[in-house]
Amino acid sequence: MRLVRQEGGNRGGVGESVLDLPPQALERIAGEVGTPVFVYSADKIAEQHRALSQALAGISHRIHYSVKANSSLGILRVIRDLGLGVDIVSMGELARVLRAGFSPADIVFSGAGKTCAELEAALECGVGLLNLESEWELEILCRLARDRKPVDVGIRVNPDVTTDTHPYTQTARAGHKFGVPRDQVVDLARRIMRCGNLRLRSLGMHLGSQISQAEPYRRGAACLGELADKLVRMGVDTLASIDVGGGLGISYGPDPALDLGEFRDAVAGVASSRGLALLVEPGRFLLGNSGCLLTRVICRKRSGGRTIVITDAGMNDFLRPSLYGAYHEIRVVAEGAGGGGDASRDHDPVDVVGPNCETGDFLGMGRRLAGAGPGALLAVMGAGAYGFVMSSNYNSRPRAAEVLVREGKYAVIRQRETVEDLMRGETDSPRWVNL
Ligand code: LLP
Repeated sequence: MRLVRQEGGNRGGVGESVLDLPPQALERIAGEVGTPVFVYSADKIAEQHRALSQALAGISHRIHYSVKANSSLGILRVIRDLGLGVDIVSMGELARVLRAGFSPADIVFSGAGKTCAELEAALECGVGLLNLESEWELEILCRLARDRKPVDVGIRVNPDVTTDTHPYTQTARAGHKFGVPRDQVVDLARRIMRCGNLRLRSLGMHLGSQISQAEPYRRGAACLGELADKLVRMGVDTLASIDVGGGLGISYGPDPALDLGEFRDAVAGVASSRGLALLVEPGRFLLGNSGCLLTRVICRKRSGGRTIVITDAGMNDFLRPSLYGAYHEIRVVAEGAGGGGDASRDHDPVDVVGPNCETGDFLGMGRRLAGAGPGALLAVMGAGAYGFVMSSNYNSRPRAAEVLVREGKYAVIRQRETVEDLMRGETDSPRWVNL
């Protein structure tokens, strides 16, 4: 994501529909479940899945949803019902996908720092593919894999490709912690072969997140293709797939989405011309615009010539604006009381900020939001991916509830945390242990 200018950009009407739901439906959810609340649309997730499947039609491929984008069990269930596989990066995500009913064979396990315990858990349950990211990891895996049935592994390659994204979400440049540098791949493959009980099934990459151009994918895929050829020449006859990772950019409003046709053209040939399957690991593409965050305006005030609207959701609920300067459209679902006692200023640009004690706690700056007075219900758009999963209890705020909407019905898929939940596992009378 590029840092999109925060000022302006909003559509600004009152009573807008969101996720194809009329404002009354959103008001009802907010009224019954409370705010802040994340609302997701199962139909939108299915729509995004359809779009990607259609773009890849005719190519042997498998879509693995990247669980880190939104790992709630209710969402995983939607993904499972669509027939997708998953991409996971931790023991916690492994437990979640197993709970949601995914078969181990449908799991790709990646991650730059998998612990010994995580590798062991992955072997124990028999994940479909383990992507190796370092020599160290290989050494441990090789030891753990002894006396087991053969383990399918891939190499996540760092192809040294730059993307047009926020520096924090670029992952494939030389010097980054992710993947195996391209010039070390052949050597690692040799070691995998020597290990005996490992089968090298895949070469993969993940370039970064919110990528809007196909060109980096083309360069990355070309690198994987060249490496695959080298491995075949040196006798590797087990390769079955090329994994091009996730990162498919969506439009959050002013910024362009990745063109799916161009994406397909950039990556498909590399796999199909070698008789390999294409693996894709989208997270944001499926969830980003399939969810929003509903928040209520607490108060509105003027300071230093600016109008400030303070909402009950902040950086602890939705970190992307504060962490990346990311732009998220904000809509007024239902009008509040008249402009903080100064109705004439109702059309001034407003800074929509959270209640946390940080000046960097904001959802959107300089927005035109008529009707955003106290009590107004706002929807922060594009909050389905990297929303709840990145939320925290900062300022001792309970984390938000989550609601799933499907075919004209809604269900709470996560209860709002309580203040009691916040203190679970803590004590004010510690049991001291001698050192
Ligand atoms: N595969 C791997 C190995 C990944 O590391 C990621 C994301 C994905 C797939 C899915 O990427 P996606 O399709 O969602 O772009 N918190 C950041 C995004 C970090 C993504 C990390 N890895 C944000 O809010 O923009």
